[in-house]
Amino acid sequence: MEYVFDIAAMDFSVAGEASSSIKKTLRQIGIDNAIIRRVAIATYEAEINVAIHSNGGTITCLISSEWIKIIAKDNGPGIKDIDKAMQQGFSTATKEVREMGFGAGMGLPNMKRCSDEFDLQSTFGEFTRVEMTLYI
Ligand SMILES: Nc1ncnc2c1ncn2[C@@H]1O[C@H](COP(=O)(O)OP(=O)(O)O)[C@@H](O)[C@H]1O
Ligand SMILES: [Mg+2]
Repeated sequence: MEYVFDIAAMDFSVAGEASSSIKKTLRQIGIDNAIIRRVAIATYEAEINVAIHSNGGTITCLISSEWIKIIAKDNGPGIKDIDKAMQQGFSTATKEVREMGFGAGMGLPNMKRCSDEFDLQSTFGEFTRVEMTLYI
């Protein structure tokens, strides 16, 4: 199964919709609650990152009998220093975004922690792609 969600840049009115929709689907097909929780956290952080840091992109959820994959792909601007971005507490979020409650710098570390496999690819000036796999 494949589900694709468009994520617009800075559209906070729909922030969290992809993760709650995926959560609902996983519940319907009887996935273990502990796995659903990890998928929901990882997806939420990924979609917020696309919304607050990128020019827009997509969240794709792929489900097989063995794993759940969440892929966040956006249209830039990309990440300058991936090692730095992965550090707990590192954030380039603007004051405005922080005032809305985002930008604690814990998104990427949490996404990695919640995943069995975590792959982050980014070319500065071009795109960011995060692929997270959770085994069922
Ligand atoms: N999709 C993205 N596009 C561009 N930069 C990103 C993206 N995701 C993360 N980053 C960069 O990595 C940093 C750390 O991300 P994260 O751990 O989620 O913290 P936060 O979102 O709270 O800033 C961000 O502040 C930003 O600089
Ligand atoms: Mg984040």
